[in-house]
Amino acid sequence: MHRFDRFARFVLPPGAVGVFAAILGVGWFTRPDRYVRGYAPEQPIPFSHALHAGTLKVPCGYCHSGATRSRVAGVPSVETCMGCHRVTKTDSPAIKTLTALYGSDKPLQWKRIHTLPDHVYFDHRPHVAAGIACQSCHGEVQTMKVVSRQMSMRMGNCLGCHRDPREALPKDSAIRRGPEHCAACHR
Ligand code: HEC
Ligand code: HEC
Ligand code: HEC
Ligand code: HEC
Ligand code: HEC
Repeated sequence: MHRFDRFARFVLPPGAVGVFAAILGVGWFTRPDRYVRGYAPEQPIPFSHALHAGTLKVPCGYCHSGATRSRVAGVPSVETCMGCHRVTKTDSPAIKTLTALYGSDKPLQWKRIHTLPDHVYFDHRPHVAAGIACQSCHGEVQTMKVVSRQMSMRMGNCLGCHRDPREALPKDSAIRRGPEHCAACHR
């Protein structure tokens, strides 16, 4: 057999497969955010932010009061909804489902859209207190019929803003940076 033939038959094909596998592997392990951004699961009740936070202008804090008081913003209880829906749109099938849930004492299982791994520490309070708008991280929620994830949940995104938060802060803010030491977010 010619030396070149041997190369073409026994070295080239496995080599090509190896290169291809390496490309796929790198692609998999550095999975870019485009696969997770835009995540918008179907919710048990078709609740629309575009209607409630947009058209009706109910403030974010009415339903997510936790954002200024605790680490988590929280999602509202059915009780909060019933404040209006005891009388509003009671003929709608979705509101009938809501009312039945309210009567049953079962919690409404909203599907989580934003999640961080357990080893990451995030707190809404310092961000909200610094004057960063919900929209800087979550996008224009008040225009969304279905909430979709607009922010990257990767470390690089947190650090990107912590290194240069000017755009997200009010003009007169004295804050120059967010923390970059590991223990700030990994405690
Ligand atoms: C009338 C109550 C109400 C108001 C007002 C409201 N929300 Fe919500 N929000 C909800 C409910 C209920 C959910 C869970 C269902 C869903 O995802 O649509 C939710 C979910 C979210 C989520 C996704 C949570 C997750 O699982 O990661 C974000 C982000 C959010 N809201 C931000 C906002 C912002 C920003 C505003 C103001 C512009 C706002 N909300 C106003 C009730 C409300
Ligand atoms: C600096 C970015 C940032 C800002 C500003 C911000 N959020 Fe969040 N939000 C996040 C992150 C990150 C998570 C996921 C937290 C987790 O998984 O522990 C989250 C989660 C949520 C959730 C899901 C429930 C929870 O708290 O875990 C809701 C609801 C929410 N945010 C609403 C709001 C509202 C309303 C505001 C404005 C008052 C706001 N967020 C401001 C980054 C932000
Ligand atoms: C501040 C009052 C208020 C609160 C609080 C409120 N809603 Fe509403 N909701 C309304 C109004 C007003 C409408 C629109 C009625 C119409 O179409 O004329 C509406 C419409 C809806 C609809 C659409 C019904 C249909 O079939 O057209 C759903 C679903 C809904 N709300 C769910 C919820 C849920 C879930 C919560 C709690 C997280 C909630 N609402 C909290 C006032 C409220
Ligand atoms: C849009 C800009 C922005 C994004 C995105 C952001 N941060 Fe921050 N973060 C800040 C700023 C600004 C501060 C400093 C606030 C201050 O000094 O009062 C801060 C402070 C913090 C602190 C310090 C809180 C304390 O108690 O001292 C933690 C922890 C933190 N961020 C975690 C995170 C994590 C985790 C993420 C990503 C999931 C994230 N941040 C995304 C702007 C941001
Ligand atoms: C501003 C917040 C923040 C700071 C500061 C930070 N991290 Fe992270 N880190 C995150 C978030 C959010 C994740 C989870 C998302 C991801 O894996 O990108 C993460 C994930 C990680 C992971 C797991 C990666 C993986 O693929 O699972 C390691 C390891 C890590 N960080 C190490 C560090 C070290 C070392 C430092 C200090 C030099 C540091 N982090 C500082 C926010 C932060």
